[in-house]
Formats: sequence, C-alpha cells, structure tokens
Amino acid sequence: MVRVFINGYGNIGRRVASAFSHDKEIQFVGIGKYSIDEKLDEAIAKKFPVYVPEEKMPEFRQKGYDISGTISEAIKGSDLVIDAAKDGFGFSNKVNLYIPMNKPAIFQGGEDRTGEKKVADIIHNSRINYDKVVNQKYVIQGSCNVSGMGRIMQPMIEKFADKILRYDVTLIRRWADLEDTKEVKDSIEWDKNPHHQDDVKSFLPSVKLYVEAYKVPSRMMHLHQMTIRFKDKVPYFDSLSDIYHDEFGVAVLTKAKGTADIRLKAREFGFEHDDTNMVHIHEETMRKSDDTLKILYSDDQTGIVIPENHLLFQSMMFGRPKNEAYERTDSLFQISKKRDMLEKQFGA
Ligand SMILES: NC(=O)c1ccc[n+]([C@@H]2O[C@H](COP(=O)([O-])OP(=O)(O)OC[C@H]3O[C@@H](n4cnc5c(N)ncnc54)[C@H](OP(=O)(O)O)[C@@H]3O)[C@@H](O)[C@H]2O)c1
Repeated sequence: MVRVFINGYGNIGRRVASAFSHDKEIQFVGIGKYSIDEKLDEAIAKKFPVYVPEEKMPEFRQKGYDISGTISEAIKGSDLVIDAAKDGFGFSNKVNLYIPMNKPAIFQGGEDRTGEKKVADIIHNSRINYDKVVNQKYVIQGSCNVSGMGRIMQPMIEKFADKILRYDVTLIRRWADLEDTKEVKDSIEWDKNPHHQDDVKSFLPSVKLYVEAYKVPSRMMHLHQMTIRFKDKVPYFDSLSDIYHDEFGVAVLTKAKGTADIRLKAREFGFEHDDTNMVHIHEETMRKSDDTLKILYSDDQTGIVIPENHLLFQSMMFGRPKNEAYERTDSLFQISKKRDMLEKQFGA
C-alpha cells in the first residue's frame, strides 16, 4: 500500500481526496487544511484525518476540531504527496517540506514548469506521456484546459499527423467553480499570454499551436473551439466518433445546447461532485471547409484532472502499464459508464 497525503483541500484537493480515499491500494493519510471554513467541516464529516500547520494547531483545537497532527508529520508518514495548493504555493511547499523530507510529489497545473518558481521539469498528460513519468520524483499534472487539449489533439495527430499544418484554439474559460464563493464578474476578460500554449507544447513539442483565452461569467465548464488546418482538403471521416469512440474520457454528444446542460445532468445523474471527469465533443457544431476543420468541445474544469492525477500516481509509484492503469482509473471513476450515460442522454 502506498501512503498518500493530499496537501490542500480546495476544489481540486477535496475531489482527489474523495477518489483516493476509496482506492484499496492507497493508504489515505489525510488532507492538509490551512483555514477554518465549511470545507474543513466537510472533511471532518467525511472522517478524513485532517492535518494543519504547526502554528495553527492551537487555533483549530480551540475551536473544537479533531486534528490528527501537523502537516510536516503527515508528510513524514507518506510515500507521496499530492499537492493541491493555491497557484504558486506548491513551490514553497516543495522547497520547505518535500525536498527536506525527500518526498515525491505531484503538483497541479497552476504551478510553473520554468523560471524561478519551477516545481518540475515535466507536465503529465496521460494520453501522451504517461510512460515518461514512471518513477519521476516531481511532476505537474497539466491543468484542466491543457489536459483537455492533449486528449483531443493526440488522437488527431495519430490519425492525420503529416497532413496537419496547425492548430488554433480559443479557450472560453469559466470565471469560477461551482463551489467558489467569489463573485462572478460581469465582464469578458482576455489573457495577454495564456500559459496553456507552452504547457501543451511541453508534451507536444512539434505541433504548431496557437492559443487565445477569454474568461467569461460562468461557473459551469470551459469551452474550446479548435480549428485544425490541413495541408490539403480535410480528410474524409463520417463522424468524430470514428476518431474518438475508444478514447478514455471523451464523450461525443450532439444534443447539448450549452455547458450547463451537461453539468446539471451530471448532478441529476448523481455523479460525485457533479463531475463528468471528461471532455464532451459537440459534434453538431463541427464544420469542414476545404482545408479547415472546426471542433467545439466542453471541458469539465474541476473533474478532468482528478482521474489524471490517479493515472499519474500509478505511473510514478508503480510504473504500471498504461492500459492496466486506465482500467483501474476507469473502475474508480466509472468514466466509461458516465460517458455512456451522457452519450445516451445527449446523443443523436
Ligand atoms: N479549480 C479548477 O478547476 C482547477 C482545475 C485544474 C487545476 N487546478 C489547479 O489546482 C490547484 C488548486 O486549485 P483549486 O481550484 O483547488 O484552488 P482552491 O480551491 O483555491 O484551493 C486551494 C487550497 O490550497 C490551500 N492552501 C493554502 N495554502 C496552502 C499551502 N501552503 N499548501 C497547500 N495548500 C494550501 C487552501 O487551504 P485553505 O482553504 O484551508 O486555506 C485551499 O484549500 C491550482 O494549481 C490550480 O491551478 C484547478
């Protein structure tokens, strides 16, 4: 059994905790919490062991919380840390905790791969470089948009690589997650230098990729419009299902009208945390014109990276063959079943 500690219990940490605490080959050490709020109450109600910074122990205990120990103690007793800290905090955690205690760690997509605050040399995308993260000590799990782009681009590359000239992607990003309390501002904001382009190119270095990103007042999901330019005419295929029907975590839908349709259906179906854990191609919006193919797909921002963390964990800790890892992750997250339900609901 591998002892795993989850440092941070925000939108990503609480989802990783829900999944990992059910995996029989993981000894779930617990979660790291930094503030007293409703997420702490949730973790206690779920009976997760809670660890806090040493200097905050008196505050948490005075308020009557049952705290299992300090974050340092939890890390010391773990074989792997999944860092789910706010953007940038992963770097200080690495320097102050993981390196001194010689512990491997998975970081999330808000951390840097280059520059002064870099936490790792590699960004993981299970579809592309699962085998390259075997036994690595520090790896970043790509962010939701980056995970989604890899999941869509790699099958295209495998099918049509030498015929493709370039990819142009417009990311329409949700403002906040469902459970965020922050205000959703009535504005459309642009990003002068989206990190997603370099992140994807870190694992697909030879593609010509151009990314623009806009943040819109929605909580539901991201939406990507991907334009693929071919050298000649767009190759013939009947349906995007021809390319994606065997892909892990890709649903091909035709009847959803917007991101909220899918998110609310996930809730109605009782999917944990209202997550689908996948991308959803909206086939009815596909356009082919001469050398240009346009695809639209939505990306479950909070859900998609959680099975990716589980796959990455299996590569880093066990060096498990990829197919076997996909099977285990599928059985933990029920991705194939969820996809079938969504395709039935929103299918042709
Ligand atoms: N939200 C998404 O859709 C999404 C998708 C993909 C990737 N990511 C990435 O996942 C990471 C976490 O994002 P999030 O949305 O979960 O953020 P979040 O909801 O703001 O949660 C961040 C958590 O970090 C905790 N924290 C504060 N200081 C910390 C420290 N030194 N070490 C560890 N944790 C600390 C906070 O604890 P307290 O609340 O107790 O203060 C909070 O629970 C980021 O890198 C983000 O870019 C997010």
